[in-house]
Amino acid sequence: MSLDQQIEAVREQFRTSLDSLLNDSKSVEDIRIEFFGRKGKIAGLFARLKELPASEKPSAGKLLNELRNNLQQQFDQTQEKLESTTSKPAEDYFDYTLPGVPVKRGTVHPIQATMDEMKDIFQTIGFNVAYGPEIDDDRHNFEALNFPPHHPARDMQDTFFVDKQTVLRTHTSNVQIHLMENQRPPLRYLMPGKVYRNEAISFKHYCLFHQVEGLYVDKNVSFVDLKGTVYYFLQKMFGKDVKARFRPSFFPFTEPSAEVDIWNEQRNQWMEIVGCGMVDPNVFESVGYDPAVWHGFAFGFGVERIAMLKYKIDDIRLFYQSDVRFLEQFK
Ligand code: PHE
Repeated sequence: MSLDQQIEAVREQFRTSLDSLLNDSKSVEDIRIEFFGRKGKIAGLFARLKELPASEKPSAGKLLNELRNNLQQQFDQTQEKLESTTSKPAEDYFDYTLPGVPVKRGTVHPIQATMDEMKDIFQTIGFNVAYGPEIDDDRHNFEALNFPPHHPARDMQDTFFVDKQTVLRTHTSNVQIHLMENQRPPLRYLMPGKVYRNEAISFKHYCLFHQVEGLYVDKNVSFVDLKGTVYYFLQKMFGKDVKARFRPSFFPFTEPSAEVDIWNEQRNQWMEIVGCGMVDPNVFESVGYDPAVWHGFAFGFGVERIAMLKYKIDDIRLFYQSDVRFLEQFK
C-alpha cells in the first residue's frame, strides 16, 4: 500500500472511531491511544518516512503533519461537543420538574354504592349484616320458605337449576332460613346479595340482579314496625318528601304480604321496589321457632330499582355492561 493510500485508510478509521465515541462504544482514551499514542496509527505512518527515498521525504512529511493536525483538530472538536451536551444518554434523561401524569381512579359501582348506603342506614337502627350462598338447595330457596313442591308459587320466580335439588338462588330470602337454622331469636339482620332469574331481558329485567333482604324476629313485632322501618329507610334514602305506597300482595313466606311502590317522576308511574310482610308461621316451624312465641317481619328490596330511581337511570342493562362512560359518572 502506498503512503497516500495508508493516509486515506487512517482517515477513514478515524472517522468511524469518532462515531463510536459519539455513540458511547469507545472512550476518548481509547481513541487517543489508538491514533495519537506513541505506538498509535499516526506514529506508525511517521515511522514509514525512513523507508522513503530522500527526495520524497519532505513532501511526505508535510502530508503526515497535515494529517496529524487535522485529526487532532477533529478530535478536540468532538471532545468539546461531548462535554457541552449532558453526559447522560438522552433516554435516561428525566425532567423532574414536569407535572405528573394523573392516575386514573376507579369508581364504586352504583349498585355497590347503593347497597353500601342501605347497609349504613339499617345498621344505625340495629340491623346486623349477613351473607349467604348464591348456589343453594331447594330447601333453603323454596321448601322452608313455605313453597310446597309443585306449588304454582314457584313459577313466580323463573329459576336457573344447577340440578334437580340445587338452584341459583332466586332471592336473598334463602339467607333468612340459614340464619334462623343457626341462631335462636331474637334477631335483626340485613342480607345483601346477588340473585338470579331466568327472565326475558328488558329495560327493567335482567337475569342477574341484587336484593337487600331484611329479617326482624322478636316477641312483639307487628306490621306497624315493618311499615315504620320501611318508611324510615325510604326517607333516609330518598328524602323526607318521598312518595310511597303500600299495596297488598302475596308471598308464600309472609302473611300478610305487601309490596311498596315509589313514585317515579321520570316515567310518571309507580315503581315497585320492595316485597315484604309478616313472617309466615310455617316458616318459623320449618326452622324450629315456636310461632306462638315469635313474630317477625321480612322484606326484600330490589337494589337495581332503588339505584335507578336514585340516579335517574332508565335501563337496568347499563349496570351490567361495564361501560366506563357510564361508570365514570358515579364519582
Ligand atoms: N323474596 C321476595 C322476592 O324476591 C321479596 C320478599 C322478601 C318478600 C321478604 C317478602 C319478604 O320477590
